[in-house]
Amino acid sequence: MCGIIGITMRRGNATPIIVEGLRRLEYRGYDSVGVALQSGGRVEIRKAKGTIDSFVRKASVMSLRGQTGIGHTRWATHGPPNDVNAHPHTDCRGEIAVVHNGVIRNYSSLREELAARGHRIISDTDTELIAHLLEEEASGTGSMVDALARTLSRLQGSYALAILYSREPGRVYFAKMHSPLILALGEEGNAVASDITAVLDVSRRIIPLNDGEFGWIGPEGVEIYRLTPSGYTRVPPREVESRVKFIEWTPEAASKAGYPHFMIKEIYEQPQAVMETFNGAVDDPALAEASRLIAGARDVLVVAAGTSYHAGLVFSYHLYRLARRHSIPIIASEYKQYSPAVGEDTVVVAVSQSGETYDTLAAVREYQSLGARIVGVTNVVGSALDRISDITVYTRAGPEIGVAATKTYLAQVTVLTLLAGYTGEARGVLDRGAREVREPLSRVHEVVNDAIRSSEPYAKQLAGLEGSMYILGRGLGSHIAREAALKVKEIAYLHAEAYPAGESKHGPIALVEPGFPVFIVATSDSPEVAGNAIEMHSRGGRVMVTKPADMGLEIPRGIEVLDLPPSHGDPVLEPFILAPFYQLLAYYAAVKRGYDPDKPRNLAKTVTVE
Ligand code: F6R
Repeated sequence: MCGIIGITMRRGNATPIIVEGLRRLEYRGYDSVGVALQSGGRVEIRKAKGTIDSFVRKASVMSLRGQTGIGHTRWATHGPPNDVNAHPHTDCRGEIAVVHNGVIRNYSSLREELAARGHRIISDTDTELIAHLLEEEASGTGSMVDALARTLSRLQGSYALAILYSREPGRVYFAKMHSPLILALGEEGNAVASDITAVLDVSRRIIPLNDGEFGWIGPEGVEIYRLTPSGYTRVPPREVESRVKFIEWTPEAASKAGYPHFMIKEIYEQPQAVMETFNGAVDDPALAEASRLIAGARDVLVVAAGTSYHAGLVFSYHLYRLARRHSIPIIASEYKQYSPAVGEDTVVVAVSQSGETYDTLAAVREYQSLGARIVGVTNVVGSALDRISDITVYTRAGPEIGVAATKTYLAQVTVLTLLAGYTGEARGVLDRGAREVREPLSRVHEVVNDAIRSSEPYAKQLAGLEGSMYILGRGLGSHIAREAALKVKEIAYLHAEAYPAGESKHGPIALVEPGFPVFIVATSDSPEVAGNAIEMHSRGGRVMVTKPADMGLEIPRGIEVLDLPPSHGDPVLEPFILAPFYQLLAYYAAVKRGYDPDKPRNLAKTVTVE
């Protein structure tokens, strides 16, 4: 989903900062790129289809000079990826330039209306309509704030906007509704962007914006307004000041630091990510409070999408076994099915690394409106999930730029395993209390380090696999298998299907023929997977069993065994032992097949549309 940025500096040239910000936003979409700069009372635009690297090479963007500008990286919604549909979009006079993340739902009627009033609309985008609406509103009033408020009142749907107006040099206007947007307040200037990583070069003092807020940034200050049913009001400066948060992430953490791809850098950063997450969570009063809430709830729902959902499955598993608490894991986009039974005694554990995923937020908002209490688990301080949750528990994985979630997955599993153990303690069902999870997890840094080291040669060796594959597991292994298959599919473009191993003989085994790759994710709760491995092998499948080295399984010759670090029979550590192999397999298979693991086709890291 597109990334936007706007910068206004006291001195110097904003272009390189915008371009660097766009590089950090590229995970949000890479269909096209564009920049607009204010220079000499005009708005100058460069834009093109393709990635930021090709844009910088082709579009002479670096020759633009000015202290104030906006930029955009696109994940196409309205209209195909091409130069014309690339943002920024302008009004008829070329005085207003707009970049946008989101979807305007009343696009068709607005387009017809504007065309009927004589506007020449040249792109297929919904964004261009905003520029034309602003043109009309701005010509009727001296104030761009008024014009923007009136324009916003005409829009239905979601938007994060950054806008330049040639008659107001030095200002970037912004607005937010259901798409993420933050302000960054720096010594040398101010910025607005879809996420924190894009503005780390400007400042680490940020203000997360709320839905319905809009305003402007200038080099010396900011003004925020709030839409109201009758118009708008200004957010008092004291309130603005009180909302400032300091972000610990550094610009270096958001750079490739010499690695060929963010994905491999982030895989290697996992020992650090899990350790910092463990250290930050272990004595966090929020975690203890969340566990008491879960312990006392009537129903526990675990809501998330994609990889975060897979971390949620591991949580649900541990919660049952460690705390004897039943919970329902829910794929966020399916949330409506469960609404009828949600009430004040429901606790929702919502997991989202970005804290901005549309479906997860939609689920949380609906359940909250029905009385549920929300425990948010997120990697991003100040994200929408952080702000709407009753309690937030943070993962401390640092910025994750690679589109595939890797280090944030294991960081989520760290915090959620602790949460399950603490809930077990709160319910008095664990002999050793929370020590049952605290002790093994205190070694998690070392375990992940060893897992990466021992997985790497296997992953490189198997990177040439072609065609389809199964990834089977039982119990905890079946949940890890789902994450493994997602990584292989989205990064290496190999069809990988995860299945509960015991269930595989009820249909899927029909596909197995000589040489068909079958991975087994063996976990200590389910030694029976050995039988499933043998069934697959007997049909000619190429069976590869990934397991903790100390897990004794009777495996006949001909089945490949990939021994990973020992778990000493403790399921708590097994996701950390097994998942890195599949992340590395996906990574090396993608590289071998000539794909860019940081830019998987059709995907954007943070899905801010329905
Ligand atoms: C897969 C991946 C996605 C995200 C999903 C949820 O590697 O990254 O499946 O996990 O879009 O994103 P968050 O966690 O930000 O809600």
